[in-house]
Parts: sequence; structure tokens; C-alpha cells
Amino acid sequence: MSRLVVISNRVAVPKARGAAGAQGGLAGALHAALRKYSGIWFGWSGAECTEFTGDISIRRADGVTTATVDLPSQDIEEYYNGYANSTLWPLFHYRIDLTEFEREFGKGYERVNERFAASIAPLIEEDDLVWVHDYHLIPMAGDLRRRGIRNRIGFFLHIPWPPTRLFVSLPFHERLVRTMLDYDLIGFQTDEWLESFLHYCRKELGAEVDDDTGRIVIDGRTVTARAYPIGIDYDHFMAQGETEDARQAQERLTSSTRHRTAMIGVDRLDYSKGLPERMDSIGRFFDTHPDLVKRLVYIQIAPPSREDIENYQKIRTLLEQKTGQINGARSEVDLVPIRYVNKGYSAAELFGFYRASKIGLVTPLRDGMNLVAKEYVAAQDPDDPGVLVLSRFAGAAQQLTEALLVNPFSPDDVAHAIRVAMEMPLDERKRRWQALNHTVREENVIVWTEQFTHDLADFQPV
Ligand code: F6P
Repeated sequence: MSRLVVISNRVAVPKARGAAGAQGGLAGALHAALRKYSGIWFGWSGAECTEFTGDISIRRADGVTTATVDLPSQDIEEYYNGYANSTLWPLFHYRIDLTEFEREFGKGYERVNERFAASIAPLIEEDDLVWVHDYHLIPMAGDLRRRGIRNRIGFFLHIPWPPTRLFVSLPFHERLVRTMLDYDLIGFQTDEWLESFLHYCRKELGAEVDDDTGRIVIDGRTVTARAYPIGIDYDHFMAQGETEDARQAQERLTSSTRHRTAMIGVDRLDYSKGLPERMDSIGRFFDTHPDLVKRLVYIQIAPPSREDIENYQKIRTLLEQKTGQINGARSEVDLVPIRYVNKGYSAAELFGFYRASKIGLVTPLRDGMNLVAKEYVAAQDPDDPGVLVLSRFAGAAQQLTEALLVNPFSPDDVAHAIRVAMEMPLDERKRRWQALNHTVREENVIVWTEQFTHDLADFQPV
């Protein structure tokens, strides 16, 4: 079997750290993929250096070999905080109002992609499959090809691909997409993002597109684009549920919420997750059901993210205000309706918290997939499962159709779903959960990895 060379911005966090959802889906998923295949995982160390040297630090931990480089502050600013997270991230999440178009960001982005390619190219062997991940590294294939890499190279986008009408607001959009033609296989989370991409290629680039096979022919090159919905590392997560940490976490939440329904949300503190809107919905629920204030407690776990970026600082302030307002208006000396926690937890602890919660509230305004929804389902007690309330704008909603699907922009809609979830009879909860759990268990991250790498290995240029 070929070795797998994975290239992503963020490289493995040690196993003991959080679940896929809490950390962002990518790290957990790739860790699972690389535990299964031999190979290397290359990317940024997360550390800052004074000048870029390209020196690679190789580590082997937890069955996975990682190769990382440090980046100087200008690269971090222009590539990571800049183009990746202040231009592409908001635009790809349909937030053109938050998107920053700075030429220096684009230059920094291209520079770091070239630097990554120069560092990893000498480590790539003839039969390796190369798999590049996410919006930070879209031009990577071209940079590798220019360095003589002839291997099969695949790309997977973990976030949405926006509709053409939004995407064309990106200066040099065509230049960015043309760099993708050097990949052999491009994967998206859902059919919706795939359709947007194919539409762009046909309309803006004049490419020949076969909607059934996802084959795109342009300038004599053939690229295939398909949907591969990512899953969780199901067996690994379930094993976490067997630990003492999970049991204690469940007990901790159950004993502190006794006689009240615990409802949980776990999200990186990101504006795409719809957290202020969620607080408005919970506020609406309390306003319209004053009799139920004493019966519901909401636990929001929100580890801070990308804190150097102003829009992330703003969302945190806004969320603190909204949570404070609801709690100020509704608390009693012995009752606080919302528990707001700014830190991450391990996978085992999250398993316990999910299991103790009768409602899982996952309401992003836009999300490539959302693995918290899948972890919440996996952690439920089959004899007394909780109810998943899920945004119809999360990629996961395409698969998890037995959840209560909501419009996260509508406080009335979400408040209504919370009420329905609180009152849902056991047989309906079981019926819905069995269908959801089947999907989460079967369409897991191992299957995702196998399907993508199988298709990449099979790829025949036309
Ligand atoms: O899912 C998108 C993503 O950027 C992943 O690449 C990453 O795991 C997660 O969000 C967390 O973001 P960051 O790496 O910027 O902390």
C-alpha cells in the first residue's frame, strides 16, 4: 500500500486532548486517518520563529509521524490570521460583510504555500499519495508540481464552498481556482458545496463539467470533484466513553443539574457557529415559556479561537453580553439558566457531558460539516437518548435528517424546537436516535479516509 503524505495547516494535537468537534474537525479526523496508514503529516508547528528557515522537526507520537515547520510573525499575520482567516474563512461562510480584501494577505498566503511546498517536497517518495487539506493550502498542488512532484495529489475542503455570486467578490478568484486544477481529486463535505464549485468552473472558467461524475476538463487538464462527508472516529470516541473521566464528567453534570433538563452546545468561539443568535433563541424560549425557566439549564462550552483577529474578539464580547443579559434577567440565588464556559475539554469529558444532556443544540449559521452533532449522537444512552437540534445550514444536516432541523436565524423556530425536544416521548426519541446513530457509526472517519484515498489511488488521468 502507498504511504500517505498529509499536508494541512494545523498538525496533530496529542490524543489526550479533545474530541474532533471541540478541536475543529480536521485535526481529529486526520489523526485517525494517519493512525491507520503509514506516512507523514506535515504542517505548521503553531510556533513563531524570527526568520523562516524551513527546518523540519520530525516527531513520532501516538502512532503518527509529524513533520512541522515554524513560521515568522509576518507569515502568521498575513497567511493564517490574514488571507486564510480574515478573507477566505468569512467569505466561504457567506459572511462577505466580515471579509477583508488586503493584497498583502494574498501575497503572504502564496509565500507560505510555496514555503510549505519547498519544505515537504524532498520528503515525498515516488509512490506516495499526497493529500492536502483545507482552505489554507488551496494552491499547494501547483507549488508541488513546479518542484517536480508527479504523484497523485488530492485536496479536501473542510469548509463550505460559497455560491458563485459570492465567490466572485474575491479579487483574483480565477487565479485561486485555477491553482486547483493541478490536483487530481478534489473533495467537498456535501453535494451543496460541490455543486457551487462545479457551477463556478462551468460559468466563470468555461470548463467542461460532467455533473454525474464530477469530472472537470479545462485547458487539457482533468480534475475530478466529489462529495465525501467526513465522520467521527466512532470506535475511538466510544472507547473514550468507557473511561473513568467520562463517567465522572457525566456524574458531575447530572448531579449539578438534578431535576432540570440539561441542554448542551460545544463550539469553537467563531461567528460561523451562530452563538449570539443561539442566545437570542434561548432568550426567546425563556420569554415565551416562563414556566419552563426552572426546568432547563443550558451549558455552552466555547473554547476561544483565533484570538488575534478582531472579529473573533468582537464575537466573544457580544456573546458575553448576551449571556450576561439572559442570566441577569432570569437568575435566582439558586438558579442560573446559562452556564457559559470558555475552555476546552478532553474527548472523554465531552462524552460524559453529552450523555448527561437531554438536548444537543448545534445551530451554526453555516458549517462545512459539524462533528459536534455527530459526537452528541454517538454519546447517547440507547435506552434513553437525548434529542439533537441541528441547523439546516450545517453540512451534517444533509446526513442527520432525523434531527430536529432548524433555521438558526429564527429565534422562534429554534425556541419551538427546544420545546418539542423537551417534550418528545421516549419512543420517538429512540426512533430518531437509532437512525441518526446508524449514520454516525457507519459513515465514520475511517470510511471517509478509505473512500478518498481509494479514489485518489484509482485516479486515471484522461
Ligand atoms: O474546520 C476548519 C478549521 O480551520 C480546521 O482546519 C481546524 O481544525 C479548525 O477549524 C480550528 O481552527 P484553527 O486551526 O484556526 O484553530
